[in-house]
Amino acid sequence: MAEPKIATARVSADELNTQLLVLHAFERDTSAVGFVSKVDRLYDGALSRVLSSGDFAGHSTDTMVVYPPNPDCGIRRVLLVGAGKREDHTVERLRRAVGSAVRAAEKMAIREMSISVGHVHHLSEHMGDYYAGLAAVEAAMLAAWDYRDLKTQDEDSAPRATLDEVSILAHDDRELDELNRAVRHGTITARGANVARDLQQRPGNIATPTFVAEHAREIAGRLDLKVTVLDREQIRSEGMHGLLAVAQGSAEEPRFVALEYNGGEKDAKPLVLVGKGVTFDTGGLSIKPSERMEDMKFDMSGAAAVIGAIHAIAELELKINVVALTPLTENLPSGSAYKPGDVINTLLGKTIEVVNTDAEGRIVLADALVYARRYNPAAIVDCATLTGACVIALGHHAIALMGNNGQLIDQVRAAGQRTGERCWPMPLWDEYKEQITSNIADMKNSGGRAAGSITAGWFLKEFVADETPWVHLDIAGTAYRDEAAPYLRKGAAGVPARLLIDWVRARAGA
Ligand code: BES
Ligand code: MN
Ligand code: ZN
Repeated sequence: MAEPKIATARVSADELNTQLLVLHAFERDTSAVGFVSKVDRLYDGALSRVLSSGDFAGHSTDTMVVYPPNPDCGIRRVLLVGAGKREDHTVERLRRAVGSAVRAAEKMAIREMSISVGHVHHLSEHMGDYYAGLAAVEAAMLAAWDYRDLKTQDEDSAPRATLDEVSILAHDDRELDELNRAVRHGTITARGANVARDLQQRPGNIATPTFVAEHAREIAGRLDLKVTVLDREQIRSEGMHGLLAVAQGSAEEPRFVALEYNGGEKDAKPLVLVGKGVTFDTGGLSIKPSERMEDMKFDMSGAAAVIGAIHAIAELELKINVVALTPLTENLPSGSAYKPGDVINTLLGKTIEVVNTDAEGRIVLADALVYARRYNPAAIVDCATLTGACVIALGHHAIALMGNNGQLIDQVRAAGQRTGERCWPMPLWDEYKEQITSNIADMKNSGGRAAGSITAGWFLKEFVADETPWVHLDIAGTAYRDEAAPYLRKGAAGVPARLLIDWVRARAGA
């Protein structure tokens, strides 16, 4: 989908020409101050009359349109968006407000809008002009995203209006500098998340392992990344028997993709991002119930996120080396499928007793984590729609985070906090490891129902070198949405692409 063009504008209220001016209003804030008061004057006091009337409560994501009394006014409409209580304001609130504004504009078939964030920038500890601008830009681009390639007809007779143009208003020169930086970074970051969402949203019959690998190859060509794509025979000769075992039930060929971005010193150790790429998970012979099985097209969300992240990292030209790895396969039942009870080998040589063919993600990730060793990584972050247990534990509002290094855990959590892709830690205590001991092999691939996300994390840990800082993100509850949110439609959420981009940006010192 075409993305909106986002730019800054340094204009005064009386010079501003726009179809829709988005202004934030806090709960119980009845006075128009600063820029709002200037617009209010052009509106003959209409804004302050609305604010003091109590008709607009200012609850988070409420919206109200106000028209100018003078039909010649350059500001054709004001959209008041509720920002909630002033003292509770966060960047996430700002994203939600901007998302609501985009939805309101969509309903009115308005294609151009201006957003003023200047009057909210001082309200919260992590918001300066840059972060306010970044949040607004990202939210606008994320909210505007849609995937309609497969619709041949619109539900309504009128085609849906798409947002073409967004101006982020600066009120002074210092703010303009910060906002220019925010527009550049925000556009690239949201584009990266939307690259991930395009991949996620495509159904399993289109986004096959081959399709995703070719898509990665196309991106690599465009952004000058090094790309390696292994086919089934090459995966076999590398010795990635875990990925092969999961793939053996499917007529679709598996792929293994490595994308390398070299923006740092030649010999500097890279950050390695690993994403689970199961393009459709039926559960295999341990087959899933048919209810909601269609959601399992999203089981490649980790792969989508690391591809989207490296897309943005390359566009940002960060001075750092980054590798994105993804094992791509379907998990299907058939006469050739791997079976419960099978013992399989891995790239590391450790053996796995398959007690449940539906615990396939950890098997394909095991090979990818071992493959990562050849890059001598400074750190590894993997992300995967790995366990239903993650959804039971944390619902749809947090990524489960595990790892072997406190510093890296803190860094990744901080990136999650800044981006609104929040993480919550789970412990990898030794006691949990006993649940995956096997009588016949080095480990088994399921530890049963208790602490299902943690035992999956422990399984992965068995394939990571102890000295390599590593974090695992279980995105089963957050990668896609059953319901729309203010700045994300139902379906693909692109999580955790923005978290990964922000973490890498921080590591690169940018
Ligand atoms: N892809 C699923 C996990 C999943 C479930 C993601 C629901 C998103 C929503 C994964 O491959 C899986 O099936 N895990 C099993 C593991 C179990 C058999 C140990 C699960 O969670 O049930
Ligand atoms: Mn599964
Ligand atoms: Zn799966």
